[in-house]
Amino acid sequence: MNPFTLEHKIIMVTGASSGIGEATAIACDEQGATLLLLGRNEERLNHTLSKLSSRNHKILAIDLAEFEVVTAQLPVFLQDVPHLDGMVHAAGITSTYPFKLFKTEQLDNILKVNVQAAFYLTKLVLTKLNKEGSSLVFISSIMASVGEKAKTMYAMSKGAVSAGAKSLAIEYASRKVRVNTIAPGIVNTPMTANATYKTNENLLAETLAKYPLGFGEPEDVAHACVFLLSDASKWMTGTEITLDGGYSAK
Ligand SMILES: NC(=O)c1ccc[n+]([C@@H]2O[C@H](COP(=O)([O-])OP(=O)(O)OC[C@H]3O[C@@H](n4cnc5c(N)ncnc54)[C@H](OP(=O)(O)O)[C@@H]3O)[C@@H](O)[C@H]2O)c1
Repeated sequence: MNPFTLEHKIIMVTGASSGIGEATAIACDEQGATLLLLGRNEERLNHTLSKLSSRNHKILAIDLAEFEVVTAQLPVFLQDVPHLDGMVHAAGITSTYPFKLFKTEQLDNILKVNVQAAFYLTKLVLTKLNKEGSSLVFISSIMASVGEKAKTMYAMSKGAVSAGAKSLAIEYASRKVRVNTIAPGIVNTPMTANATYKTNENLLAETLAKYPLGFGEPEDVAHACVFLLSDASKWMTGTEITLDGGYSAK
């Protein structure tokens, strides 16, 4: 018995067209899962699919912030899916703005994708979740618990994800639904490729110095997702895995 296997599990991964979501799809595929991959960009979703085994994986190109579209399309997409054993919500956007540029429209936008989509999707898949047990994983951020300049809006969104997941975990524990979050520090993905600290040598050195183990790679987060989706974590719910190369240990 390998408690880490995902064989016979059907897992939905959002944000599967890039970065952490893509790496999660690859890691779940390697552990034997059948995957439902969501993202906006169909071409990049197909690119992810091309890296996977030939199992019966499916893709859906959809904007998760368009709730009416999600309400209409997701049930159709899930029609032939017998049940879901897990979901990873890795779709997300970031924002880096000095607070004086705060705009309610920008906050609305980030909350839609990072928070509302995570919990609305959860609501839509509840009846599909395997009654024998299932696992939901939301990708939060260390910004949910520590501060950085210009990250107020992003931090608010991730704080909401981490907090909401705990209550959800309590409410659904009796239905054998586990809910956990992962809080990464800086991970090398397209999201961080153009960050200010990567465009300036001094700033990069300064930022790297805060990371005893350096920046993370997408597979570092993907492997934690596999653990949380697998039966190896069957006693874990309502908790957060911090994955930050030591950033917040200091
Ligand atoms: N990278 C980091 O340092 C880091 C650190 C902590 C937390 N995180 C979190 O980890 C998650 C993944 O980030 P990443 O670094 O992998 O970013 P990424 O490479 O930019 O990927 C973001 C993914 O989210 C999808 N997405 C964005 N808006 C969407 C929408 N409205 N509808 C559907 N899909 C949407 C994108 O789809 P398309 O490509 O199709 O547009 C893409 O697949 C995010 O929640 C992020 O906040 C990242």
